[in-house]
Amino acid sequence: MKEFSMSRSFGLVVETDKCLQLYNSLGLSSVASHFCVASSIAKIQEALTYAKAKQLDIMPLGAGSNVVFASDLRCLAVCISILGIKESGSNGGTPNSVDVRFAAGENWDRAVRHCLSQGWYGLENLARIPGNVGASVIQNIGAYGVEISDRFISLSAVKIDTGEIIILNKDQCRFSYRESAFKQLLKDKFIITHVTLRLSRIPIINIDYPALTHYFADHQGEISSEMVYEAVSTIRQSKLPDPDVLPNVGSFFKNPVLSASTLAKIDSKDGRTKGQIPRFEQPQGCFKVPAGWLIEQLGLKGLRYGAAGIHAQQALVLVNYQNGKKDDCARDILALARYIQEKVLATFFIQLEIEPRIYGSV
Ligand code: FAD
Ligand code: EPU
Repeated sequence: MKEFSMSRSFGLVVETDKCLQLYNSLGLSSVASHFCVASSIAKIQEALTYAKAKQLDIMPLGAGSNVVFASDLRCLAVCISILGIKESGSNGGTPNSVDVRFAAGENWDRAVRHCLSQGWYGLENLARIPGNVGASVIQNIGAYGVEISDRFISLSAVKIDTGEIIILNKDQCRFSYRESAFKQLLKDKFIITHVTLRLSRIPIINIDYPALTHYFADHQGEISSEMVYEAVSTIRQSKLPDPDVLPNVGSFFKNPVLSASTLAKIDSKDGRTKGQIPRFEQPQGCFKVPAGWLIEQLGLKGLRYGAAGIHAQQALVLVNYQNGKKDDCARDILALARYIQEKVLATFFIQLEIEPRIYGSV
């Protein structure tokens, strides 16, 4: 067991051999060779200088709710904790819109509730998504019919190789379902420090998502934004395990988006479901298939493998029953994920893609 130590570079405190168990919602107990908390842009720039001098890769961290640490990591993990939410002066929208600038370290759900309390509407459907504002753009968080890209104006970021501050607009971020440039061309190139969203001073009520429509089916009278926030919270709590109780990263796989012709081919080959695979129409003639349904059809809901399991209420969610107590939790989670991928491919001819970012290897 290595000894924990700490060093100071300018004002930055860098810890070595830091256990990350409290810094990821899967509760994996990997160790980062170097770790620091950055509460300002200047601290981020110091961290970059430190990492360059020590030839360390940078791993930005928010709340760790979408990462899998497969092994110990030689890197400088930088926990981004810049705070602040304020109305931005430069509103290029309409009199009814408000541009709001959020610092990357703000907790996402706290930010959503703050906006509601200010009468800034449009984020209610994204209630209770774990994590911080900075990471929300990395995978273009989405839930209950809204994605952050629907409200996005721009972001500020520090370039990892030079420390320079840049601003990126919506086109440059290349958002799509659970995707952005930060997972592709711009991967590992920037640390996001602030995000600006355009919200509305007039409530925007969107209850088109089936679970929300169903929730309000018997409701008489007006529906407020606060009611949508509560509805989303209630639906989420009924399905998704609380990571503090049962460690998880939410959906472990993306829902596959397939072209009509691919889906038709699958329907013709798939003797088991005979064209019954549910599908939700997307732009450009594509269809989103619920991966949770595919996994449930295979009878895998509730399956356990070592420390890992498929959640009994939501087949898309893998959970860690050992909460870091066992060294090979990550190995079990990743083996279970591979098993699910193989079964789904063999039965439905669909390749499931893992949603969280995996660091290290088993
Ligand atoms: P982290 O896990 O810390 O980081 C994720 C990635 O972003 C890492 O690669 C990290 O390096 C990078 N990153 C983090 N911060 C920065 C930064 N400032 N600059 C550059 N890179 C950065 N997601 C949804 O979209 N919809 C849902 O409904 C949803 N439900 C969930 C439910 C549960 C119970 C859980 C556990 C997760 C859920 N998620 C959902 C996934 C997760 O909440 C989101 O992906 C969230 O945005 C992750 O935020 P984080 O701060 O925890 O990111
Ligand atoms: N379904 C099943 N069995 C399951 C799970 C789902 O049959 O075990 C079916 C449901 O009955 C429903 C359909 O699949 O017909 C969709 O289910 P749900 O509304 O629960 O959504 P999801 O596709 O499982 C996605 C996101 C969630 C997000 C919800 C709500 C992805 C990968 N996941 O889940 O995001 O909260 O929609 O919008 O897109 C996350 O990314 O971590 C996450 C939790």
